[in-house]
Amino acid sequence: MNGDIRKFIFKDLQTVEGYIDPPDALVFMALLQAQSAHSLSGGIAEIGVFYGRSYFLFKKVCGSTEKILAIDLFDIEQKAGETVTQYRRFIDNGERLNLPVDQDLVISGDSTQLQPDEIVGKIGHTRFFSIDGGHMLHHVSADSMLALSTLAPHGIIAFDDTFNPAWPEVTVGVTDFLRERQHELATFCMTKYKTYVCRKQFHDFYRRIIDDAADLRAFDHVETDFLGSKAVRLHNPIARRMVYEMMVRSGMRALSERVYR
Ligand SMILES: C[S@@+](CC[C@H](N)C(=O)[O-])C[C@H]1O[C@@H](n2cnc3c(N)ncnc32)[C@H](O)[C@@H]1O
Repeated sequence: MNGDIRKFIFKDLQTVEGYIDPPDALVFMALLQAQSAHSLSGGIAEIGVFYGRSYFLFKKVCGSTEKILAIDLFDIEQKAGETVTQYRRFIDNGERLNLPVDQDLVISGDSTQLQPDEIVGKIGHTRFFSIDGGHMLHHVSADSMLALSTLAPHGIIAFDDTFNPAWPEVTVGVTDFLRERQHELATFCMTKYKTYVCRKQFHDFYRRIIDDAADLRAFDHVETDFLGSKAVRLHNPIARRMVYEMMVRSGMRALSERVYR
């Protein structure tokens, strides 16, 4: 197992306000490391950075030489009385974690207005594309097309908030997109929050990575049919989630990692 990165996921990363929880962070780590081990190169991109929780995970796992593109509107208003901006908090988090943001690889703006060349020109074709920006149908449709147009043959798209009842248009957007491209794309992994997709030729490869990853052994692996693909659904039983939450709330963050071994 990856002691150092696991410690980072369960402790340091949780100090960044944001939305990737340890189970998906462990999936990101397993996939990115497998790509590196098999020389499946390419850039990494995220739409919807917020304060950088997923971005700093990319930095930690992939190292400082990897090209990681951060795309966000960076216009979230801060609490009354605070002068610091969303963008400044993102940069400050990088300095605090000793994972400085490469500001040449930040796009501040509306992702739905971006062209694939603007991404490929900065980081090359993408090996991993995380979509977690606007959560309405037109955002999801545009972001999905953008990601696919930049994707390396072996690239992965990770869609956030799929099947979350709070964001029904994400579900519609992602399922429309995948149903129309069943001949080309395949889902290989699903978690409580995210859906992981690649080109069909790489489905078995990534599925095996998830099946065999030592860091994912804590989860039940349940085979699930989804739009013509056999995906592994990583089930995280409620009892474990409760123990984890109790440990975090009682200040035992560092030890909470053991719950997921
Ligand atoms: C749920 S947060 C992302 C959480 C983040 N991925 C993490 O790991 O913590 C959604 C982000 O999407 C950004 N966003 C919303 N609409 C956008 C758009 N049209 N273009 C770019 N970013 C957008 C918001 O500013 C916000 O920071």
